[in-house]
Amino acid sequence: MTVRIDGKALADDIVEKVALDVAAFKRDQKVTPGLAVVLVGEDPASAVYVRNKVKRANQAGLNSTEHYLAKDTSQEELDKLISQLNQDDSVHGILVQLPLPKHLDESHVIEAISPAKDVDGFHPQNVGNLVTGQKSLIPCTPLGCMIMLNREIDDLSGKNAVVIGRSNIVGKPMASLLLQANCTVTTVHSKTQGIESICRNADILVAAVGQALLVKKEWVKPGAVIIDVGINSVEVEGKRRLLGDVDYDQVSSIAGAITPVPGGVGPMTIACLMQNTLTAAQHQLGV
Ligand code: GUN
Repeated sequence: MTVRIDGKALADDIVEKVALDVAAFKRDQKVTPGLAVVLVGEDPASAVYVRNKVKRANQAGLNSTEHYLAKDTSQEELDKLISQLNQDDSVHGILVQLPLPKHLDESHVIEAISPAKDVDGFHPQNVGNLVTGQKSLIPCTPLGCMIMLNREIDDLSGKNAVVIGRSNIVGKPMASLLLQANCTVTTVHSKTQGIESICRNADILVAAVGQALLVKKEWVKPGAVIIDVGINSVEVEGKRRLLGDVDYDQVSSIAGAITPVPGGVGPMTIACLMQNTLTAAQHQLGV
């Protein structure tokens, strides 16, 4: 029997637990952890993510502030806002929603955020700490994937893990976390030869490329655990539908466990952002 990994239910549990810890933090520190979310421009998908983040922050008892900037905001204006948020003691976590409009320099923005407040874990200091196995803020999507994998698999040590995709947001940090957990890790990407046979050797397959239904049944080893990070908005028979990178209908018949889209990785990412905001506040106050 294939397990359908219920990311929504698991995310609800995590947010409930974070809410308890936030309540204890407020009682002991007399401070409410604060998350600042910055959205530049009007990308509809980003606006939906930001709304969901704010809703979850409220459920967790965090203070959240949103900063909606026009799509023609200059680099200087954005730098100034980040500098203000870095200095604001009521803000413990800063998230600038990506992608940014083309005229803004994404790397510059990521590096401008104080590493201690970098709840995305994208700052080079946090990336370096992650890769070298030191304490760091871990990117939310890979963190959520690891929580799900650790629940499905007793011991990750020695498992063959294949990550499809090499983005800074998901693929690279995911591969680092799997390596840290003693998996044998292969990252495959658009230039890889023989992707299908490499994937067929995976005990753990994480798909994070943004190509709807790329992973077919023939790519999957029977019993493998499949984590689908893809969220692709595709028109099917005149209607907009969210599809993963994995062909769920095919693959679910042979996988050991699989995340659905929607309701898998997506809710876990946001739950982990709440956890990271609390973690950042704890570190900043020396808890
Ligand atoms: N855009 C897509 N995923 C993410 C994420 O995890 N963090 C930020 N800041 N932007 C994103």
